Amino acid sequence: MTFFRLDGKDDTLVLFSKQSTLPRLLYWGPNLPTDLDLDSLAAVAERPKPNGGLDVEEVVSWIPEPGRGFTDAPGIELRRGSTGIYTQFEISDAQRTETSWSITCRDLSAQVTLDLHITLDGATGILAANCVLTNHGVDELHVDALASMVLPVPERFTERLSLGGRWAQEFQSVREKIGSAAWLQESRLGRTSHHAFPGLALMASGTTIDQGDVWAAHLAWSGNHRTLLQRCRLGGLQLQMAELLLPGEVNLTSGQSYATPTLYLARSDAGLGGLSRRWHQYIRSSVLTRTDSPRPVHFNTWEALYFEHDATCLHNLVDVAANVGVERFILDDGWFFGRHDDRAGLGDWTPCPIRYPQGLSPLAQYCRTLGMEFGLWVEPEGLSQNSELFRAHPEWALGVAGLEQPLGRHQYVLNFGLSEVRHHILAAMNNLLRNAPISFLKWDMNRDMTHAAGSNGSAGVRAHVLGVYAIVDSLRVAHPDLHIETCASGGARADLGILRHCDRVWVSDCNGPLTRQRIQAGFLQFFPSELMGAHVGDARSHTTGEVCSIEVRTLSALFGHFGIEANMLNMGDEDLVHLRAAIEVYKTNRDWVHAGHVTSIDHPDPNISAIMAISEDRSHAMVSIIALGQTRSAVPAALRLPFLKSDAKYRLQFHPLWLPSKQSGKSASDFHRGAALVLPGRVLHELGISLPVLSVSQGMLLQLELIV
Ligand code: GLA
Repeated sequence: MTFFRLDGKDDTLVLFSKQSTLPRLLYWGPNLPTDLDLDSLAAVAERPKPNGGLDVEEVVSWIPEPGRGFTDAPGIELRRGSTGIYTQFEISDAQRTETSWSITCRDLSAQVTLDLHITLDGATGILAANCVLTNHGVDELHVDALASMVLPVPERFTERLSLGGRWAQEFQSVREKIGSAAWLQESRLGRTSHHAFPGLALMASGTTIDQGDVWAAHLAWSGNHRTLLQRCRLGGLQLQMAELLLPGEVNLTSGQSYATPTLYLARSDAGLGGLSRRWHQYIRSSVLTRTDSPRPVHFNTWEALYFEHDATCLHNLVDVAANVGVERFILDDGWFFGRHDDRAGLGDWTPCPIRYPQGLSPLAQYCRTLGMEFGLWVEPEGLSQNSELFRAHPEWALGVAGLEQPLGRHQYVLNFGLSEVRHHILAAMNNLLRNAPISFLKWDMNRDMTHAAGSNGSAGVRAHVLGVYAIVDSLRVAHPDLHIETCASGGARADLGILRHCDRVWVSDCNGPLTRQRIQAGFLQFFPSELMGAHVGDARSHTTGEVCSIEVRTLSALFGHFGIEANMLNMGDEDLVHLRAAIEVYKTNRDWVHAGHVTSIDHPDPNISAIMAISEDRSHAMVSIIALGQTRSAVPAALRLPFLKSDAKYRLQFHPLWLPSKQSGKSASDFHRGAALVLPGRVLHELGISLPVLSVSQGMLLQLELIV
């Protein structure tokens, strides 16, 4: 028996291998004593062989192999021509560092090796795992499927939390009982997708925001992916996450390798909030490669102007933006050659000679003279049928020769798997960045891929995604101060693969603050708040039709990376005064909010959304409370506040900018009218705070400060 053990500050991982077969998970949980006898650990976990089955143990190893008698969904599928390969890997070498294991496994008869890598981040306990398959045979090896790492899931976990949704309603939390059969979630759209976020959490029923044992997994990949949670036929569960490979997508010639995307695994003994806190800390310390700190207040022109880029209007918007405290002005779609609507222009990345006769520099310079940075929307992967680029290079579009494909938003996808395409786009982007002082790009991608093949006919999603990562990296090397946002029709490309290369996420095209609450709550389950683009839209939301006050619109954006997308030229003075004041609140608090923990917290009424921001040292907190609909009871239930220091005293007070209106019950208490109280964290957790009577779409902000 061979053991592979890693220990972090609060976590221990033990994998083990019998007779040199692929390692499997033995233990992942709170720290084990360093002198624990691992043979006894293995013995206590040993499962019997069942009657009526094979005479071998069926094992959910790192990669469950049919060649070893695994009869549920396999972790690997390989072929040479039409001959299927039944691997029987054996460990041939293992290297350890203080935080990681690299385990080499080989199969001499199949002529392949599999290198397994796993790292434990000591501070957060987060695991990063992947594997690399290499062909040592003479003949080509076709990789049809290879999971990053497969996990046996403890049967104490009975519920699954995943994130589903659609355009303008991304990151919707779906909490369901784990069923008696398999649960499969896929994206075959060439992007991370709106509907199938590649991440999930597993827990026992009764798990709350601050209590319970939870595991979570996330695949860091921005292309096709597949998650399978399967009840195995002999008992137990397996969780597989993998890049979904299209037929013929990965063919390895002799000596070539395929590396799976990284699978990140997180666990917590402190409920879903404990889990998200770990994700947030880890993403900051180990995934993001640069900081955009403090996060500047954005103004984005999309919902204010759409394609109507009128010079006077733009100048006026710049003036008002500077006046309310905006720090970065972003020119969205509609600025380039031929782009009068969404039917033309993608591919031709030069400023429209009619709307911008001197290019973008005068507008960008004007922003700078008023103390704002300038940013620009681009969609480098997009290709309009009606564009100079498509007319010159129709073969640069992803597609199957001779077959018509359905368009999406009237456009094709440029094949970033082709080096000539990458060179062309890199030159076009560099040209833009050289000709105007642009410090931010909103990199959009608005097309679900269907016929994702290159002109030679082979599947091209993987090569495309790697091409995107490479071009974004080249831009960042050439322009070290450039910050890049990932956007795909809103939040369809948000994952830890793209976030190694980008700095902000456009979470959703929905700026309606009520619908946004659920979107942001789901997003925050995995990602930290400073990445969460959150904008104040018009009073009537363009995507949902909900009509909301300026107060609730600013409240909804306060903990994220704050921005404005409304046409401020149509805003009344009172709204502008509130906006300026809310921006001041954002600026005063952003440093600790964006270094702390922001998460939605539990309230018994599904129509009350409560999102809490708490500083790393738990000395400051803010809670936004928004009524999404009619509350269930006439007087809302108390809101219990987790995460505070139990024995410490906090001063708490509703912020005057977001005080409830007169409709809040016949006799609101002094506390609800803004009076301060002092109470220990334990009381606020056990008893909670009473809420005023809330009408639909009303919002408040509670502020807490530790008293020393
Ligand atoms: C996508 C984005 C929007 C906006 C438009 C512009 O839909 O998600 O925010 O940039 O494209 O065409």
